[in-house]
Amino acid sequence: MGETPRDETPTTPTRRGFSRRALLGTGAGALAVGAGLGAAGRPAVAALEDALGDHEPQDVVDFHGEHQAGIVTPAQDRLCFASLNVLTKDRAELISLLKDWTAACRRITRGLDVTETGFDGGSEYAPPQDTGEAHDLSAAHLTVTVGFGRSLFQDSSGKDRFGLKAHLPKGLIELPHFAGDQLEDARTGGDLCIQACADDPQVAVHAVHNLIRMGFGVVSTRWMQLGFGRTSSTSTAQATPRNLFGFKDGTANLKAEDSAAIDDHVWVRDDSWLSGGTYLVARRIRMILETWDREALSGQEKIIGRTKGTGAPLSGGEEFTPVDLNMMGSGNQPIVPVDSHVRLAHPDTNHGVQMLRRGYNYADGTDTLGNMDVGLFFIAMVKDPATGFVPIQKKLAREDALSEYLRHTGSGLFAVPPGVPADENAYLGQQLFEA
Ligand code: HEM
Repeated sequence: MGETPRDETPTTPTRRGFSRRALLGTGAGALAVGAGLGAAGRPAVAALEDALGDHEPQDVVDFHGEHQAGIVTPAQDRLCFASLNVLTKDRAELISLLKDWTAACRRITRGLDVTETGFDGGSEYAPPQDTGEAHDLSAAHLTVTVGFGRSLFQDSSGKDRFGLKAHLPKGLIELPHFAGDQLEDARTGGDLCIQACADDPQVAVHAVHNLIRMGFGVVSTRWMQLGFGRTSSTSTAQATPRNLFGFKDGTANLKAEDSAAIDDHVWVRDDSWLSGGTYLVARRIRMILETWDREALSGQEKIIGRTKGTGAPLSGGEEFTPVDLNMMGSGNQPIVPVDSHVRLAHPDTNHGVQMLRRGYNYADGTDTLGNMDVGLFFIAMVKDPATGFVPIQKKLAREDALSEYLRHTGSGLFAVPPGVPADENAYLGQQLFEA
């Protein structure tokens, strides 16, 4: 049995002071949300609100909304990302899993166990319904974002798997091979993705762990990636973090507060099921630190196009001073070099295209030669991958001086459906399955 006595008023302290799971997850007045109904037959969402009462959960990002959380949500510090294969051939079974995931997400994003029964409240002869590792932790700003891969709509021979082929969104393309790509099958593709972000890695892993566990026999894990230290700021309220090359990353990123730009570059707006959603591009990019670390400071700065200290553009000013790509320096060469990352990725050299970057550092030990397998798990949210990602990545792969220090080893593209309304019967992906 777990630490929290099931019939006591729980006051379990956590890193953030208070555990919602301890209060509600296994207590006598706990909720039955899995089936969409509360213990007394009350609708799940209303029952959840009632039970939370005056105790406003801490560290909570609302799961419900027009858009899924985890996109314009200020980037949390930790990531657990999973790509899944769908095993079942039964559309109803897949929908049922998405409904169960929705019910679970409503709870875990409030800091609760996945079901009322929780991690220690069920039969001693059955596996616990919640795996338990986050029971004493707060919600930690957990967001769970689910996406659909192209292979969910049609298999490699074009066969319609779940009656969804007619709804394959136009942006869910096969990503082309980019120069220098060294993609590993075991880190590429997938029918579904789950992006869990939180302040606490254990909370993020718990979310993915439990959603996978709930899908036993229906889905299987294809690949998984942990990330730490967000490599972008997605809100003007956030300081710009640094990536593993030591440079500020996210300075010129789209910010949630700029809703007009987010509308222009992130949200799909059409009459399809995906309207209000977006596309998530994931690239596991190994950074060859052993070579980079031998590059002189001035060389590193020329490769990026910004200073390492403040992150200001090489054309001058402070971190947020707009870069002047036309300023000339010595030898009649542009101060921001023609092969610098910032110049090549800048909207002015890409027909105005921008993306919402939301990646994380990763460190996965060493390779067989003892070199560090570390890098950037690049995530970008874009309105249309064919125009908003592919041309830029094609150019970076060929011309960016940074490419010499990078190796793309994994890749995924997913359509991220719009958000789930706070309605008892609403579920993740409903817009697609009822289109
Ligand atoms: C490990 C790989 C990468 C590293 C280390 C890296 C690093 C950086 C850094 C330090 C900046 C400047 C600060 C900022 O504005 O955020 C930057 C900007 C940017 N990066 Fe990357 N990046 C990487 C991969 C990519 C990829 C794959 C893409 C897209 C295909 C991309 C797109 C951008 C964009 C759009 C900007 C902003 C350019 C601007 O408007 O000034 N980056 N990156």
